[in-house]
Amino acid sequence: MDQANIYPEEEAKEQLLDAQAHIWRHVFYFLKSMALKCAIQLGIPDTIHKHGKPMTLKELANSLPIIPNKATSLSRLMRLLVSSKFFSMKTLANGEEGFALNLSYQLLLKDHPLSQAPFVIGILDPRLVGPSHYLSSWFESEAESSFHIAYGKSVWEFAGHDLEFNDIFNQAMESDSRFATSLLVTNNVFKGLFEGVESLMDVGGGSGATAKAISEAIPWLKCSVLDLPQVVGRVQKDGCNLNFVAGDMFEAIPPADTVLLKWILHDWSDIDCIKILQKCKEAIPTKKQGGKVIIIDIVVDPQMNKNKNSDVQLLLDMEMMFVTGGGKERTKQEWENIFIIAGFSDFIILPILGLRSAIVVYPS
Ligand SMILES: C[S@@+](CC[C@H](N)C(=O)[O-])C[C@H]1O[C@@H](n2cnc3c(N)ncnc32)[C@H](O)[C@@H]1O
Repeated sequence: MDQANIYPEEEAKEQLLDAQAHIWRHVFYFLKSMALKCAIQLGIPDTIHKHGKPMTLKELANSLPIIPNKATSLSRLMRLLVSSKFFSMKTLANGEEGFALNLSYQLLLKDHPLSQAPFVIGILDPRLVGPSHYLSSWFESEAESSFHIAYGKSVWEFAGHDLEFNDIFNQAMESDSRFATSLLVTNNVFKGLFEGVESLMDVGGGSGATAKAISEAIPWLKCSVLDLPQVVGRVQKDGCNLNFVAGDMFEAIPPADTVLLKWILHDWSDIDCIKILQKCKEAIPTKKQGGKVIIIDIVVDPQMNKNKNSDVQLLLDMEMMFVTGGGKERTKQEWENIFIIAGFSDFIILPILGLRSAIVVYPS
């Protein structure tokens, strides 16, 4: 390139600077995630919440487990978190400025029943984030997933070997289940799906948080959970009315009127989803006898503009790509394709869960 050409014309300078800022924004965006994780690990939301009113920087620094000379750094962390809208600045009666927790971010409190804190910690665990560095290698190779390149095994095999990771991942899933089911079981359309239904099998149901909430809301329902032995073996089952089954959904799914697949199919390729759905079909009665599969997953808007959270859906799609290789978030058409091949006749999409939907699929 002619050296003189790297010096832009005057009017192009602004665009060039914007383009650089755009790149840098994307280079450093991961620090928004890390700042959020740091806030949770230090207990910042809990500390402000316990204080009962906006907290000055000095009060916050004195209450956190940080060393005294890090107070200035804390102010910089809080500045980013305020700009990310997790906290806001409020003026106290004495005129000082204090940090307040925005109402919706009570979801970051560790003891809140709908806390998303375990989800943040689990999804941002270095063992889970690390394989994302191998995405380009995955594109260039026959490897099953970036996870295979990083660890030589799938995420589920990895969890079976690293029990600390297994627990952190399952706690993340549990927190999502508590959040999602609190919305589902108070939704009359969702509850109506269980009229006349006697039994539910939550396939890949983890430690049972979803099944537990459903069985409490619909007391006549006999709820069971099928998951891998490494997950079921570590569940505290005392005093729990759920039936846990350790097994492999690709081998067999125990019979039930309704099968629930919450956040399962997006982990798998179309071919694997068809195999899982065929096993579900073997487990449930016919449509006439009330058989159905309920899927909780994303339905991607192909135009990417109808859902205000389309950007999050696309990010989750990339998460599925690097974690599982074959897994993906699907459009309505992509869902329909796998339902038909797996032998299901019709389905309805209930957009009742924000980013995700409940998809009710009926066997032919
Ligand atoms: C993304 S998590 C979802 C957990 C739960 N359904 C939820 O929404 O919180 C996927 C679950 O599938 C389970 N799983 C993976 N492979 C499985 C298999 N072959 N058979 C049964 N469960 C499996 C994992 O152990 C994990 O609990």
